[in-house]
Amino acid sequence: MRDSRPTLLTGAAGVLGRWLRPRLIEAYGSVRSSDVVDPAPALPGEETSVVDLADFDAVEGIVKGAGRIIHFGGISYETSFDRILSSNILGTYNVFEAARRHGAGPIVYASSNHAIGFYTRDDRLDVRVPKRPDSLYGVSKAFGEDLASLFFDKYGVESACLRIGTARPDPIDPRHLSTWHSYDDLLRLIEACFAAPHLGCTVLYGVSNNDRSWWSNEGAPHVDYRPQDNAEDFAATLIPDGDTRDMAAPEVKYQGGPFVSDGYVKR
Ligand SMILES: NC(=O)c1ccc[n+]([C@@H]2O[C@H](COP(=O)([O-])OP(=O)(O)OC[C@H]3O[C@@H](n4cnc5c(N)ncnc54)[C@H](O)[C@@H]3O)[C@@H](O)[C@H]2O)c1
Repeated sequence: MRDSRPTLLTGAAGVLGRWLRPRLIEAYGSVRSSDVVDPAPALPGEETSVVDLADFDAVEGIVKGAGRIIHFGGISYETSFDRILSSNILGTYNVFEAARRHGAGPIVYASSNHAIGFYTRDDRLDVRVPKRPDSLYGVSKAFGEDLASLFFDKYGVESACLRIGTARPDPIDPRHLSTWHSYDDLLRLIEACFAAPHLGCTVLYGVSNNDRSWWSNEGAPHVDYRPQDNAEDFAATLIPDGDTRDMAAPEVKYQGGPFVSDGYVKR
């Protein structure tokens, strides 16, 4: 989709935001980079701003006049419901509502594997499975996906919800052999979403081409995502003696890993 309006990135001071910024400028030209933590210094081609996603007027200020939106801002770990409510639930509503009012979008939204974390490692998931969140954080991402569905069906706001696995430079844990999403593949996925002729309301797994992946994007063929990296390249280093973990432990049994075992009541 061609769009000469600036691209908006939320969560620009975060780990993924900082990596993405120069690459988004290269791909799309001018970028508005925003976060509740100051994302300064601005790169050439970039405007930065400090905005709390919970503040609708401030969100409207950065969304108005923007085209593509990459909504990566929010709490990225389990914490109190108050904090999740403000940053992730209210914050995501504010981004979608401002986009609707001002004709911005499409929106690529950072959902998470924690929206489906209570499936077991033996389950194989496509993009249509019912959600099974493993934490309040995961519930907030499930909310974001449902909000995206509502805003497309009712208002025509197009979006892609990326159930990102583990986005980091290299896999460093046996679980990552299934969940790893390399940074280059994350960028490929974002670019494929914006290149799709019609995005509609799409759910996709943010995962590399891992031999041990639990997730399939085959149900979303309109997004031409071709991951190039494979966590298996790290298997000999990560599990030189095979996978010796306790397969009954909740953080191993369930796909959400440590987000599942945090507070888990055995029965
Ligand atoms: N890194 C991963 O493996 C992974 C996996 C699944 C999903 N995600 C999602 O991707 C996004 C980016 O992840 P990350 O690893 O860069 O996380 P991060 O925590 O490094 O970055 C998130 C950014 O959001 C900002 N933020 C939080 N609350 C805000 C608010 N109220 N207003 C404005 N900004 C706010 C934070 O200041 C932070 O800079 C997050 O939404 C995260 O939930 C990441």
